[in-house]
Amino acid sequence: MLKAAGTAGMVAEETLDPVDWADVQALSHRIVDDAVDYLRDVRERPVWKDMPAEVREFFAAPLPRSPQPLAQVYGEVTDKVMVYPMGNIHPRFWSWYMGSSNFTGALGDFLAAIQGSNLGGGNHAAALMDSQVVDWCKQMMGFPQSASGTLVSGGSMANIIGLTVARNTKAGIDVREHGVAAIEKPLRFYGSDQLHSCHRKAMEALGLGNNALRRIPTDAGLRIDIEALRAAITEDRAAGFKPACIIGNAGTVNTGAIDNLQALAKLAHEEDVWFHVDGCIGALIAVAPENAHRVAGIEWADSVALDPHKWLHAPFEVGCALVRDASAHRKTFAVTPEYLESTPRGLASGHWLHDYGLQTSRGFRALKVWMALKEHGIEKFGRLIDQNIAQGHYLGTLIEAEPLLELVAPPSINIVCFRYRGDGLTGERQKALNTEIMLRLQEDGIAALSDTTVHGQHCLRVAINNHRTRRDDLDLLVRETVRLGQEILKSGAAR
Ligand SMILES: Cc1ncc(COP(=O)(O)O)c(C=O)c1O
Repeated sequence: MLKAAGTAGMVAEETLDPVDWADVQALSHRIVDDAVDYLRDVRERPVWKDMPAEVREFFAAPLPRSPQPLAQVYGEVTDKVMVYPMGNIHPRFWSWYMGSSNFTGALGDFLAAIQGSNLGGGNHAAALMDSQVVDWCKQMMGFPQSASGTLVSGGSMANIIGLTVARNTKAGIDVREHGVAAIEKPLRFYGSDQLHSCHRKAMEALGLGNNALRRIPTDAGLRIDIEALRAAITEDRAAGFKPACIIGNAGTVNTGAIDNLQALAKLAHEEDVWFHVDGCIGALIAVAPENAHRVAGIEWADSVALDPHKWLHAPFEVGCALVRDASAHRKTFAVTPEYLESTPRGLASGHWLHDYGLQTSRGFRALKVWMALKEHGIEKFGRLIDQNIAQGHYLGTLIEAEPLLELVAPPSINIVCFRYRGDGLTGERQKALNTEIMLRLQEDGIAALSDTTVHGQHCLRVAINNHRTRRDDLDLLVRETVRLGQEILKSGAAR
């Protein structure tokens, strides 16, 4: 091993490395032990609890200037942070749409940080692993090996990647050189009225504007109306617009509705427009044996956004964008500045992964996904997805059997939208009652749900994207919802 020539004693140089490695080793063992206990006992704790004023104040403390022993810093994390989590690793967390993480993934994140590699690219093992995880995502989606992809922060970024390639490929001009103002015919993108809000942000960021995204009405099952979409494309073409991209939903955020992806792929082909699938919720159903048929056609998409931090339960953050035409993908983002030129050998001889997205420096997101996939195998993840979907249907039957509750939409996958009837209550008063139920479930630490509006009706929403949820958790949810509804009505608190 090469050693630097000693200059000890000449300059007082500092480092962030510990003065005493043995000390740090002992503390680290304690942290790992605590972390294992924390995860093992998660079911025994409340799903969520609000922070007292003193904790809020703690986070207003000014910039630390002088040192503090690491053990003390860790003590603060234990007392002030670990006790007040969002709660999404808890078996009864079903708000919005999260994953519930996993211990192996957490170890992966730790080791990734210890190695500290930058996944902008280069010739090193982490970069090969990053590409391997992208290859595995292609295999999950039935994409060809020749496709490309990139790991990003999450689904919103994965969608932006796909939509940017769509814009540049269909613009008819070199958008990178000339900008969107030079596009001859204004581009039009299409998706259902159930699209996630990240698509609006994407259209704004792409310089096309929100109005360039036409929201197409949905059918009774909240799937895009294919004939209305066809008519909108024809109408736009006649009016001088250029239809550029159809965005299909593989699982909408409101209810989990899955568009007819095969019909969308066919229409996109006929109309010569890009076909992007937002599969942040449901793309991974492709690996679930009992339900894979629901996303048939995803393998025909030009691009797909999927989210390993949802149904692969990788710790946040990791999303993945896949693009069938690797050269269109690379052409959209690649820039080779003089300081990032490849060399024939050595560290810079590897693939530059930053050529496939907007980031230059990239974290080692692949490791947490890779380790958990190796440990469990994809078949287990597929079974867990089937399990969550079966739980969604189970909850649906519980609600149907409970006269005080009603479904607002039949569950299609793992998202259940329902409400407390509150006989005689309608509109804002019924909303107030259900909101109060939701808040008390959270504040009492029983369960975390969120709410939404479906078919114009306010409802509670349970998204079971959680490998720790058991059916008895859902039994308890129904019991507690009924109990709270009755209690609130009795006290008149929702009026
Ligand atoms: C359908 C859909 N698309 C996109 C997103 C955005 O994904 P992320 O939160 O990973 O950015 C979500 C998030 O839940 C989603 O449900």
